[in-house]
Amino acid sequence: MLFFSTAVVLLVTALSSPVRAGKCPRVCSCDSTKLTVSCIGKNLTEIPPTIDEITLKLDLKNNNLQVLPRGAFMLAPYLTHLNLQRCNIAKVKEGAFRTLGRLVSLNLAYNKIDILYQESFDGLSSLKELHLDHNRVEEIQPGAFTQLGFLNMLALTNNQLVYIPNMAFQGLQSIKWLRLSHNSLNNLAHEAFTGLFTLNRLSLDHNELQFFPTQTMSRLPEVTRLDMSHNPMIYLGEESVSMAKLTHLYLDHMSLQDLSDQALSRSPLLSHLDLSHNQLRYLEPLSGPKQLTSLNLTGNPVYCNCYMRPLRQWARAGGVKLLGACAGPPHLSDEPLQAVAPLDLRCRSRGETLQDEFEENTGSTAPPPTAKPKQKVKCPLDCDCDIEAQHATCEGRGHTKVPRGFPAKTQLLDLRSNHFHYLPANSFPGTSQVVSLHLEFCKIHEIEAGAFRGMKNLFYLYLSDNDLTSLDSGAFAGAPELTYLHLEGNRLVQYPGSALALLPSLFVLHLERNTISKLEPTGLLASVTPKLRELYLTNNTITAVAKGSLGSAFLETLHLDSNQLTEMPTHALSEAPNLEELKLSHNSIRWVGPNAFKPISQSLKRLYMDQMGMEKMSRDALAGLGPGLRTLTVRGNQLEELPDLSPLTGLEVVDLQDNPLLCACSLLPLRRWIENASLEVDATCGNPPEVRGQKVRDVQVFMSCPESNSPPDENIVVAPKPPKEKKPKASLSKAPGVKARPAKPKAKAKPSKQKPQRKPVAPNVTKNKKTL
Ligand SMILES: *[C@@H]1O[C@H](CO)[C@@H](O)[C@H](O)[C@H]1NC(C)=O
Ligand SMILES: *[C@@H]1O[C@H](CO)[C@@H](O)[C@H](O)[C@H]1NC(C)=O
Ligand SMILES: *[C@@H]1O[C@H](CO)[C@@H](O)[C@H](O)[C@H]1NC(C)=O
Ligand SMILES: *[C@@H]1O[C@H](CO)[C@@H](O)[C@H](O)[C@H]1NC(C)=O
Repeated sequence: MLFFSTAVVLLVTALSSPVRAGKCPRVCSCDSTKLTVSCIGKNLTEIPPTIDEITLKLDLKNNNLQVLPRGAFMLAPYLTHLNLQRCNIAKVKEGAFRTLGRLVSLNLAYNKIDILYQESFDGLSSLKELHLDHNRVEEIQPGAFTQLGFLNMLALTNNQLVYIPNMAFQGLQSIKWLRLSHNSLNNLAHEAFTGLFTLNRLSLDHNELQFFPTQTMSRLPEVTRLDMSHNPMIYLGEESVSMAKLTHLYLDHMSLQDLSDQALSRSPLLSHLDLSHNQLRYLEPLSGPKQLTSLNLTGNPVYCNCYMRPLRQWARAGGVKLLGACAGPPHLSDEPLQAVAPLDLRCRSRGETLQDEFEENTGSTAPPPTAKPKQKVKCPLDCDCDIEAQHATCEGRGHTKVPRGFPAKTQLLDLRSNHFHYLPANSFPGTSQVVSLHLEFCKIHEIEAGAFRGMKNLFYLYLSDNDLTSLDSGAFAGAPELTYLHLEGNRLVQYPGSALALLPSLFVLHLERNTISKLEPTGLLASVTPKLRELYLTNNTITAVAKGSLGSAFLETLHLDSNQLTEMPTHALSEAPNLEELKLSHNSIRWVGPNAFKPISQSLKRLYMDQMGMEKMSRDALAGLGPGLRTLTVRGNQLEELPDLSPLTGLEVVDLQDNPLLCACSLLPLRRWIENASLEVDATCGNPPEVRGQKVRDVQVFMSCPESNSPPDENIVVAPKPPKEKKPKASLSKAPGVKARPAKPKAKAKPSKQKPQRKPVAPNVTKNKKTL
């Protein structure tokens, strides 16, 4: 009996499986004729491994996949439709879809994807539709879409894009409709859409664009429909829209207060223009579009007086349908524009015109007095303003554009850790009292000329840890008092000399952690920033410091450590005759020749040359240096010998450790100097082998040296020296890793070259933890 039924089951299975087209995962339902598998809402954490190979449509909506690994769909190579909506996916690994060369539609909407990696969509060579809407995409890496040569529609709506980089959509050779609505876009790179020769529809509505991206749009030769509605644009200037084939343009629900009559002069085929729900009171006849049929002015405060007459006549003559109604004057209020005869559009007398305008002005632009004091203190949304301390902070609140409306007396403005990406001109209106501005970690990659215009008292500017690759020469226009500038941790490839030319008071400049590879005479310190005292270039990729590039009579501190110098920049140093501190550590300068520091020997006080792979220093390398030198470090090199240090009688800090010194008679002068020095000096023998690791001070080899004029054994016996007053070692050992010193205004001040002093506010501001 048991036997029998087992046999039946086996038989049935054997017969039915080819008919039912094989396996169906336990939790899914499968249709073997349509070749579909659907596993909706099963809380699956992985793709069911038993999906039949010949499946065409797979619906995995509402599961919990989280990560799509490489080759995730290897087992279903014939898929044409794949639905992964609402699967809690945060990451699509490179090559996740590599095996899906027949897929036509991919739905990844409503997930948590934040970055589109270079090869995320690799292999989808037949894909026509890609739904990535309602994710958290904030970054599109170069080449993310290069494999999608057949894609027609890409939906990236409702994501967190702030910026579209150059060539972001490269490879989309068949794209027709690109949907970028409902993001936070405030900037589009000029070449953002370059290469999209087939695109005819672009949706950019519901973003944060403050200006019409003229250049970017002009790269789109085939676009006929452009939706820009719901962006905060105020004005469209001449030739703003330069799109040869554009027929439909949606500019509704923006903040347009004015529109140049030439704004559309380079879009000759425009037929529909939607300007509804803006702040337009007048509009002049538009030159350019010859085929305009519809102009929608619904919801604008159009004032129907003589100024509107030319538009009305032009519309009538050209057969343009005007939609919308008059907002005033009272007798024409609510009258459809199309119904008003040109002759009814009049201004009674000059006086009355002005009166009308005045009323209109006060009526529409002055906010109702009750609307303002919603908070006791005027302060932008998502910011805190402390009137008494004159501080305002919006740190880390996810702002994508610079908030406006700070209290007029604000002196410290802290905007760090937001997502501005781009600073347009006049980004800080009404902040003329701000002394210290923090913009660290704001992902800023571009600063438009005049961004800080009006910041007459700006003294400290922190732009550290952003994504700047270059600086516009007008970037700092209008902030002439700027004295402390922080640009460390960006991606600058050149010394930003031309931008600095507008900062005659610049005193301290931080450029650490950039990718500057050369210092060239073009950035001439002397002519550009005559007052510069401190220049920090640690951790760049500088290979050369050209003669003429440092010329500055006042430069005191120069950090060139952690770069790629292979030679001493002696020539360049000769132009900085007042240099006091020079850091050259962590370069690869094998050899230091004679007179390397001669040009600055009178001023140099601190010299750092650790970890440079230095193999030899000329006997005269330190020639000219004398009692003035307070600090000398050569730790961690390959030196077997050292020049005579005895003229350096003023040394307070010296570090010679980790060098393989050759403890032979040639080192005797050093040995004597160590004996005699008022400092404790650690130096270790590297050779010959029998003394390796021993302290120079302790080894016996020098006893037999012929020219020692004092009896050597005595010296050695007396080795324990009187207690030292100073033990600079402790601070020294930290030296190599120490970051550039914080730019707090130092206390020391020479009468002739004193630090710029700020009105009483700067020190007060300094006390605040966040300030500097
Ligand atoms: C889904 O699976 C996770 C673990 O994988 C579990 O914590 C959660 O309770 C499950 N939810 C449902 C509705 O079954
Ligand atoms: C004009 O704009 C209004 C408001 O945005 C809209 O409701 C209407 O459909 C538009 N009319 C045309 C013809 O586009
Ligand atoms: C240089 O900067 C990079 C990136 O900020 C950092 O990873 C690296 O540790 C730095 N190197 C040194 C020597 O400071
Ligand atoms: C030892 O030190 C004294 C003073 O510090 C100095 O005058 C003298 O020249 C030094 N001798 C040697 C051999 O360096």
